[in-house]
Amino acid sequence: MKIRMARLEDAKGITRVHCSDIEKWYRHIGDSKIEDAYENLTIRDRYLHGGPWMSVESCAIHLNTLLLENQCPIVAEINGKVVGHAEVLISEEPIKGEMKRIAQLDVLEVHKKFRRRGIGRAILEYLFELAKDKECELITVTPDPNAVGFYSKLGFNETVYSGLSVDIDLPETPKREVNIKMEEFPWEKIKTKEMIFGKFQSSYCHWFVIKDKIFGINDKIYYETGIMEHKYYYTLKESFSNPKIVYLYLWGKNPKEALSFAINRAKYLGFKTLRTLVSVEDYNKIREFKPKIIEKSIILSKRVQ
Ligand SMILES: CC(C)(COP(=O)(O)OP(=O)(O)OC[C@H]1O[C@@H](n2cnc3c(N)ncnc32)[C@H](O)[C@@H]1OP(=O)(O)O)[C@@H](O)C(=O)NCCC(=O)NCCS
Repeated sequence: MKIRMARLEDAKGITRVHCSDIEKWYRHIGDSKIEDAYENLTIRDRYLHGGPWMSVESCAIHLNTLLLENQCPIVAEINGKVVGHAEVLISEEPIKGEMKRIAQLDVLEVHKKFRRRGIGRAILEYLFELAKDKECELITVTPDPNAVGFYSKLGFNETVYSGLSVDIDLPETPKREVNIKMEEFPWEKIKTKEMIFGKFQSSYCHWFVIKDKIFGINDKIYYETGIMEHKYYYTLKESFSNPKIVYLYLWGKNPKEALSFAINRAKYLGFKTLRTLVSVEDYNKIREFKPKIIEKSIILSKRVQ
């Protein structure tokens, strides 16, 4: 087995790994969907099964964006065939209020037929060396609930962030205009800021999504990114599955004030529900907006040695 950095030529192999996990494929027609063969699906249909790795075309576009940003896609191969894939995004950003250089393991997938043979472990061992070379202090991951045992075996034992995914109803109360300057801000503008809403993984990973757009997919939903009231950097993004729901990602300081602006903006845009993530600590500061908790998430870390 060989573990190495991925190239654009790996798009096909990476797609095969991710598709191995999908049992049934569906074609979307308006609000409904019917089971169909993979070949009959559009690139967007395939994307809705799990992201850009579901089609060679979208996978290549995504890999290209990662590589242009000097980030780190990794593959595991056996006899020249890709059997595992990971993506690691390196950044400097606040972790528990302190600036740290971190490597976030954003994606990890082993081909279904090759699991429990040491490939996941081998990819992580490669990552431990990579993080050392890149002078990172921590490796972080947002574990899938089924993979918590795997990460714990590999030394991810500290929780650096606990978040609550919440829905906030946007009632038909009068709308107030919010000052908005729409622009795609560079990472440097937000790297030292706390990500106070929408943080599921590293702040950098969420910023990267602003860059990582695919024609025919991301332009089919409402999306805006910019600066609110001269101080809050944000993205509002319509849900792929429900046009009434908007997702909020926001960098800044004051959760209560920031959320009241974001709620007004989302209302102004005609959405009915604002969905976001807030830290367990900040949850109490936004209680007056009656957030309904949907689920919990955590970010685990391992110290680089
Ligand atoms: C999670 C995943 C990457 C693990 O890869 P893998 O190649 O099967 O794992 P390995 O064979 O290297 O296992 C390493 C160790 O972890 C254990 N392990 C593997 N998967 C585990 C799991 N889901 N829960 C608990 N322990 C697990 C193995 O038993 C092994 O332990 P051992 O060394 O004591 O024998 C793989 O199952 C996968 O692709 N799952 C679907 C996608 C996913 O959940 N990715 C993680 C997203 S955060």
